[in-house]
Amino acid sequence: MAVERSSAYRLALPEPTESHEQDAEYCVLDTGEGWTEYRFHDYDALYRVPGLYENLFYEILQCQSPPVVCDLLAEQVRGGGLDPSGLRVLDVGAGNGIVAEELRTRGFGKVVGVDIIPEAREAATRDRPGVYDDYHVVDLTALDDDRASAIASGGFDVLTCVAALGFGDIPPAAFRAALDMVAVDGFVALTIREDFLTDGDTSGFAGLITSLLDSGELEQLGSTVYRHRLATSRAPLHYRAVVARRRRPRA
Ligand SMILES: C[S@@+](CC[C@H](N)C(=O)[O-])C[C@H]1O[C@@H](n2cnc3c(N)ncnc32)[C@H](O)[C@@H]1O
Repeated sequence: MAVERSSAYRLALPEPTESHEQDAEYCVLDTGEGWTEYRFHDYDALYRVPGLYENLFYEILQCQSPPVVCDLLAEQVRGGGLDPSGLRVLDVGAGNGIVAEELRTRGFGKVVGVDIIPEAREAATRDRPGVYDDYHVVDLTALDDDRASAIASGGFDVLTCVAALGFGDIPPAAFRAALDMVAVDGFVALTIREDFLTDGDTSGFAGLITSLLDSGELEQLGSTVYRHRLATSRAPLHYRAVVARRRRPRA
């Protein structure tokens, strides 16, 4: 294992010769009390250490998802003659606010975050104060009507969901609930692992996205396949970024 040093911790990844499924990838971290293993999906633990998420995923594993999908979204919004400063964005699976920061850089006006764990909101507030107008810690599959209307009050013109679909993260039902909070003619910008959109997919997303496109509820505007990040084996992980508009489904 190659060891990365910061003033607050030592971090090491498995040897590149080891290969792990994406949902089993891990690193080891020493914050002064000995080495501890963290699965990449132990977001609560990762977010508690300031700078660790950025160091691991962005500096070492070269994640590109937030800028890639936010560029595609901004291009479609401006191409449609709209000013992003007037748009209200719901960012689902918001994490520690990297997507909100990218949206703000591109001029988006209002950004509301949703994540299932409190550590995500705490990290966003600690590391990127002010990028969210509001941030809700909720399970979108278990929302009562009052909470849903409180989150959606004022409505949303854009839904973003970046690097958070599938893999035990956001299930299709939660994505569906988020989509229902977006106005008709609003934008949807998401990233998803390329093979979750193929016929053999078992995550449920291929079926959901295909049915939304077939019913006309989503009109795809742009899409690109890109390198989301490197795996711990240093092999590229390819995702698809999609930008679409929510339309009234055909009768
Ligand atoms: C890989 S992180 C991506 C964070 C952020 N979108 C980014 O690109 O930096 C996935 C996030 O999805 C959140 N998440 C997982 N399951 C969720 C669910 N059911 N509802 C909302 N958020 C969820 C996790 O807590 C985590 O913060």
